[in-house]
Formats: sequence, C-alpha cells, structure tokens
Amino acid sequence: MTDSIYNALEADHETQRKLCDDVKASEPGSDSRSQLWTTLRNELEAHASAEEQAFYATLMAHPKGTDDTRHAIEEHQQMHEMIAKLDAMDQAADVWDSLFGKLAHKVVHHVDEEEAEFFPRAKTILSNEEEREAAKTFQTRKSAELEKQRAA
Ligand SMILES: [Fe+2]
Ligand SMILES: [Fe+2]
Repeated sequence: MTDSIYNALEADHETQRKLCDDVKASEPGSDSRSQLWTTLRNELEAHASAEEQAFYATLMAHPKGTDDTRHAIEEHQQMHEMIAKLDAMDQAADVWDSLFGKLAHKVVHHVDEEEAEFFPRAKTILSNEEEREAAKTFQTRKSAELEKQRAA
C-alpha cells in the first residue's frame, strides 16, 4: 500500500540519507552547503515532530510499543541538540564538519534502526485503522511544520 505510514516515513528517510551525503560532499563555507544544510535541518525537524505525533504517540498507546518509542524519542532529542549546535557554528570551520559527520552517522543509524526493527515490530502491534489514521496525521503535521519553517 503506497500511502501507508511506513512508506511515508521511509520516503522521508531516503531524502535524509541523500541530503546527508550531499551536505558532506559540498564545499565548506559555500552557499550550496548553507542551502543544503537548511533543507536537511528543516526536513529532520519536521519529520521528527510529525513522526512523534503520528506514529510514536500511536505506538506508545500500546504497552509493547513503549521501549521502542522511548528509544526513538531519545535519539530525536540527541539529533535536535546536535542540529542546534551546528546552527550556531561557523559552517566553514573544521569542527562543523566533524560534528556534522557525527550527526549524519546518527541520522543513518536512527533511520536504519526504525526500518529494520521498529517498523516491523509496529506492524505486529498497530491495527490497520491506527496505521491509516497515523498516515493522515503524519501528512498534515509534516506539511504544517514545513509551512511554519517557511514563515519563520
Ligand atoms: Fe525517527
Ligand atoms: Fe523516522
């Protein structure tokens, strides 16, 4: 089912993996790095907020979903803190590159773990109705987050 919550989340993950590679390959201090970073940062933040509301809040309502939810939200928080640090740093500095490398590593680990472990487990826990609702909620919240970023 192409409009499933899992497909929507995985499509975002693919975008994140690609943007991580693009930022890494960009010239330190260049306009293109700055634009790619803004796109990735906005994408990561909007995805995490929408994923928490649509997917993890639904999963958390089931006792079997508690551990994965806590684990994922803790990682979202760690990424959020790294993003804030990167935002405050000079993008041309070597330390920016090294912190960005750590963030990119964490992003890839996180989305791999969601896809390989959390989503398959969630499929055994959530009802079809919950998955349908989650897909709708995800689209609505993700669009709202991106709109809020554009207006900022
Ligand atoms: Fe996540
Ligand atoms: Fe995700």
